[in-house]
Amino acid sequence: MHLSRRDMLAALAASPFAQAMAGQAWAAGPVSRSALPAPSGRLFGTAIQPAQLARGTPLETSIRRDCQLLVPEFHGQWSAVEWIRGQPYHGNYDAIVAYARTTGKEVRGHALIWEEMTPDWARREMTETRDWVTVKRHFATLLARYRGKIGEWIVVNEMIDTESDDRDLRRNSFQQAYGNDYIARALETAREIDSEAKLMINDYSLSQDNPVDAARRTAMLRLVESLKNRGVPIDSVGMQGHIELAKGPIAQKEVAAFMAELAAMGVDIGITELDVLEADRNISLERRDREVADAVQCLLEVACDQPAVKSIVTWGLSDRDSWLQDREHATRTAQICSPVDCLSLNRGLPYDGNMRPKPMRGVLERMMAA
Ligand code: G3I
Repeated sequence: MHLSRRDMLAALAASPFAQAMAGQAWAAGPVSRSALPAPSGRLFGTAIQPAQLARGTPLETSIRRDCQLLVPEFHGQWSAVEWIRGQPYHGNYDAIVAYARTTGKEVRGHALIWEEMTPDWARREMTETRDWVTVKRHFATLLARYRGKIGEWIVVNEMIDTESDDRDLRRNSFQQAYGNDYIARALETAREIDSEAKLMINDYSLSQDNPVDAARRTAMLRLVESLKNRGVPIDSVGMQGHIELAKGPIAQKEVAAFMAELAAMGVDIGITELDVLEADRNISLERRDREVADAVQCLLEVACDQPAVKSIVTWGLSDRDSWLQDREHATRTAQICSPVDCLSLNRGLPYDGNMRPKPMRGVLERMMAA
């Protein structure tokens, strides 16, 4: 997803406080009383933005009560932090980290490398100079700033591509500038700067029953095996978990085997961006919510049965904030909130557009308690 300069500057314009205050007008809606328990020690969390942290809104109440782990949905990306070379802006990231520290939560840094959110100047510099210092400078800025405050980092996001040619890895600016070894170099550089933080690589389409997901699971296993055999520091693999109902059922047996192989290689696993893209919104509301909840249950039955799975993160809590909404849908950016027509939203998160819990939340509560 390539952002224009206008979009990026608009995205960063409001200060965290102004954004947070704007969130005060959230439409009040019933919020389920029970927090999501985690007796297994497995963390539950969600993706957040600073404007969602205005204290006391139904959304923030659920974030504070239900979540042990927070992930910046957008404001931790390279483009969001250093849109202009040498002029980093950390206000939004600082706001998220400060909120997590005051509410006793973990933060996962997301993401040090992701092609889609690499600033144009960095792409140019990398491909022109092929000097790793461009990347190392970015890592050093963030990892040093949040050392001891961010305990886990997604070092490389979305590096697998089994469809473009006979290779496993995506051809992106990093691969073109530094070769396939950029993934290992990124992990080693992160470990060199922060010897304590957990290091994760993260990718999508790894959990459903179709040939693409199957090929991507194989590619991820090959990549992790290669990294581990070379002694490259990697602590965990993120399975994004963006379930698309049109792409087939959850491949429970294959996902269980995939997770078991990763665990056997000594890496932990996270479900990192869980949500569901509906296939048909013209069925009854009850059936829509049931299909979403059933898909989530199918994935979490396998995930929560695997001790190496240490965290479950949904990509938002309320349908109103989901990236899956139509880009023109006003609710996506309208932080001055009035009640929304929930039927028009994709219903792929635990709460509807007005923060009413849906069957998916019940599934999360039961699976996290397992
Ligand atoms: O909030 C501003 C708004 O004020 C401004 O008017 C608007 C102008 O376009 O920009 C808004 O910022 C947007 C931001 O999301 C917050 O909503 C950015 O334009 C938009 O590019 C950004 O998109 C994010 C995307 O990653 C790119 O960073 C999505 O929220 C986020 O859900 C999505 O998350 C990715 C994961 O990082 C990786 N896996 C896939 C997942 C979905 O694409």
